[in-house]
Amino acid sequence: MQTVAERVEHQLTDKGYVPVYTTRVIEQPWDTYTATDHETWATLFKRQRELLVGRAANEFVENQERFGMSADTIPKFSELNRVLAETTGWELIAVEGLLPELTFFEHLASRRFPVTWWIRKPEQLDYLAEPDLFHDLFGHVPLLLNPVFADYMQAYGAGGVKAAAIAPEALANLTRLYWYTVEFGLIDTPEGLRIYGAGIVSSKGESIYSLESDAPNRIGFDLERVMRTRYRIDTYQKTYFVIDSYEQLIEATRPDFTPLYARLADAASHPAGDVLDSDTVYQRGTGEGWLSDGDV
Ligand code: PHE
Ligand code: CO
Repeated sequence: MQTVAERVEHQLTDKGYVPVYTTRVIEQPWDTYTATDHETWATLFKRQRELLVGRAANEFVENQERFGMSADTIPKFSELNRVLAETTGWELIAVEGLLPELTFFEHLASRRFPVTWWIRKPEQLDYLAEPDLFHDLFGHVPLLLNPVFADYMQAYGAGGVKAAAIAPEALANLTRLYWYTVEFGLIDTPEGLRIYGAGIVSSKGESIYSLESDAPNRIGFDLERVMRTRYRIDTYQKTYFVIDSYEQLIEATRPDFTPLYARLADAASHPAGDVLDSDTVYQRGTGEGWLSDGDV
């Protein structure tokens, strides 16, 4: 099945307005996956699972097992949905790609998680620019079984609907929060720093880099700090923010953000690689390999 994405709206980032593509909710066309698609899933699944034991938060692999995800075949959303219905009440819906922001937020606020139905090509195992099925399912879906994280995702969706009605700049602040938590977050555990961000767990290189490289900063999570910090969409992150627990995320984001957005509208943003005096520093990055421009 081939679909042509349609340009539907523009989203304000620090780089200006960028196009957002997409469309509608569909049925996962499971029967159309080719043997190559299933093989791509198997290759990525085995490779990441091996890397992530001891690197990702323990419940990440545990929850994949609770879902019955395996290397054998691409999971059926309908089967994953049975597990979600009995636990946190989330529902996966199949989409063709990135949704317009407001549509995405409305789904999250209703505990529906959009998952890209198609999987990358064999030549894209290490990198592709857009989210695909592997990123969405392997990376995002496991934590939807965690009751606290599941609530955070819903609250984020509701917060997005609200921010969209305030100003594009408010949305840009909120997007940074998603980026540095849901996509690129680290968590401090008794066994040391672990990964919980979906953008990291679905990437071989960044799974290692985010924890083991001396180049990036690792800084304690602080809501306002995160919402002021620019990020990279084209390279590994210069800075990772570390939470103590998922409860910390829920608690920090419980207050009404309206006054915060007003304050941030007058505050300068921080370059992605900056370390501030007020930061709790786990690791001050050497900055090796950083590009000097291109923060979003
Ligand atoms: N409390 C935020 C607000 O009032 C909503 C929110 C919750 C945003 C969780 C992000 C994450 O806008
Ligand atoms: Co993602």
